[in-house]
Amino acid sequence: MKDTDTRHLSWDEWDELKNPRPEGCEFDAVVERALSRRGFLRGVLAFGSGAAVMGAGTLMGTTSARAQAAASRLGFTPIQAFTDSTVHVPEGYEWSTLARWGDPLFSDAAPFDPETGVDLASSDKVFGENTDGMELFTVDGRQLIAVNHEYVNPDINLPQTGGDVTSAEDAQKLMNLQGVTVMEVAEGDGGWTIVVDSPYNRRIHHNTPMRLSGPAAGSDLLKTNADPTGTESLGTFNNCGAGKTPWGTYLTCEENFNGYFGSTDPEASLPEDYDRYGIGLESRYAYEQYDARFDVSQTPNEPYRAGYVVEIDPADPQSTPVKRTALGRFKHENAACAIAPDGRVVVYMGDDERGEFLYKFVSSGVYAAGGGTSTLLDEGTLYAAVFNDDGTGTWAALTEESTGMTTPEIHVFTRMAASKVGATTMDRPEWVAVNPVSVEGYCALTNNSKRGVAPNAGGDETPVGGPNPREANEYGQIVRWYPADDNHASESFEWDLYVMAGNPTVHDDAYAGSENVNAGNLFNSPDGMMFDTKGLLWIQTDGDDSNEGDFAGMGNNQMLVGDPATGVIERFMTGPKGSEVTGITWSSDLRTLFAGIQHPDAPFPDGDGVLARSSIVAIKRSDGGLVG
Ligand code: FEO
Ligand code: CA
Ligand code: CA
Repeated sequence: MKDTDTRHLSWDEWDELKNPRPEGCEFDAVVERALSRRGFLRGVLAFGSGAAVMGAGTLMGTTSARAQAAASRLGFTPIQAFTDSTVHVPEGYEWSTLARWGDPLFSDAAPFDPETGVDLASSDKVFGENTDGMELFTVDGRQLIAVNHEYVNPDINLPQTGGDVTSAEDAQKLMNLQGVTVMEVAEGDGGWTIVVDSPYNRRIHHNTPMRLSGPAAGSDLLKTNADPTGTESLGTFNNCGAGKTPWGTYLTCEENFNGYFGSTDPEASLPEDYDRYGIGLESRYAYEQYDARFDVSQTPNEPYRAGYVVEIDPADPQSTPVKRTALGRFKHENAACAIAPDGRVVVYMGDDERGEFLYKFVSSGVYAAGGGTSTLLDEGTLYAAVFNDDGTGTWAALTEESTGMTTPEIHVFTRMAASKVGATTMDRPEWVAVNPVSVEGYCALTNNSKRGVAPNAGGDETPVGGPNPREANEYGQIVRWYPADDNHASESFEWDLYVMAGNPTVHDDAYAGSENVNAGNLFNSPDGMMFDTKGLLWIQTDGDDSNEGDFAGMGNNQMLVGDPATGVIERFMTGPKGSEVTGITWSSDLRTLFAGIQHPDAPFPDGDGVLARSSIVAIKRSDGGLVG
């Protein structure tokens, strides 16, 4: 890194700085926006008969008696907002730290040094940085957590160089500390810990061999000099959210993969399609200086081999992760699986970028317990969501007929394919969650400063309306859909908004938020989401934690719990200053909830470190009761 001013930026801020999206909009678009907005308000009235009815203006800002009465189903006393440097949980709950950046997975790793962090020789034997999506698996009576390490902060991983990548060794260290950890965990007298040297422990990083499968595998687009077959790649990148298949494998999702590729030739001309994905001449970690794989002037197809959902078998440490091209190539946030009544597998996925789309994959084959699963995520149909302002919607299939593209092109240039079928541009689709007790899906639309202001990177308009009802949306909302015929494989659905985040203490219009937002549960930028077994929705935030202005009263990023049956949402946990709360799973007995704390400010988590350590915390009830 040569540009010291960008080191403090989050990945998203960095991406926006380096790959700015188009500015400006035309008068016609402004008019259309206004019309769409009225359409949305009519829509609210027309389909507002379900729970958690959306309101606007004076309808907002109150918690109904019904909602208060129902709060007890949540099982905890909501907590206030906090702005300090630790974690807070409700009375009757306690938390401890399970795993921190740099904690050894193997006994031959050097202990973490609070001054210098992790050394190169140990960097692929320790818990990586910036924990994100995770899932727990029970294998042979052991509990395994598979967890993502989305990116690294160069300044705290390379303190000797002040954060600059100055050598192949520096790059190697950063490559080793990202990707995925699989680790056995156990609860002893001292609480939850990593089982060091468990035969299941594994680090998967930027050089781990992977297999490419599905419709794009073997196509010319995926071939490189190092892999003339187009079926073998190295590494998984920017692993954000996650998912779990019904057959017990882990799905890790490659999000902002674009930022890993750069050019040693500053004059290199780049393929036109790079723009849509934000791939440019400059990378974040300068890998291209030391490895031709990341140098687009030498290996222009390499970026086509990233941006996928990758399936990992946590029960087999020798297994080769598989990049499933059938699920499309975009900035994958997470992957939420459901089973259709006929046994087909449905995977919902968001593409987290301003004005990009919501997708689902429906397998051709059916899942049967104990049956073969190796190609279930290779053959099927990929769809993009079209939301109508009247509360209905359809899933538009991405086929050669509907897009005019070849099958490999659809699965490599998926954003362009979805644009061709008129998919709805969304306010940054983050996690998708599927309710286990009711046939419905949810997607966190985290925020979108460009809603109604600028088109997406493909030139698709981003009109205000439908599930994206607010211009320059700074708070975010959660959209919910009800598949037709209670079948996740259906091609149509009805939708509403489960919540619009906002601030009724500052605004009295749509920016006050929906009816189920009040002074006691203020939050912005919903991001991580997971249902528990009771059908309660756990919501994690990654937003503005300034606690000022439009964000006054919201405090640090946090985790809330919502009851979709009533619309009630209450605050369960707050993270330390500077952090994003992301990643959630439960112990096999549901008596411990694990939550991820990403990029906290020092001195989290131990109160004495000079290097802040991204961590997984374990939350239990003091009485040992269930937490999910
Ligand atoms: Fe890695 Fe969109 O969050
Ligand atoms: Ca996220
Ligand atoms: Ca986010």
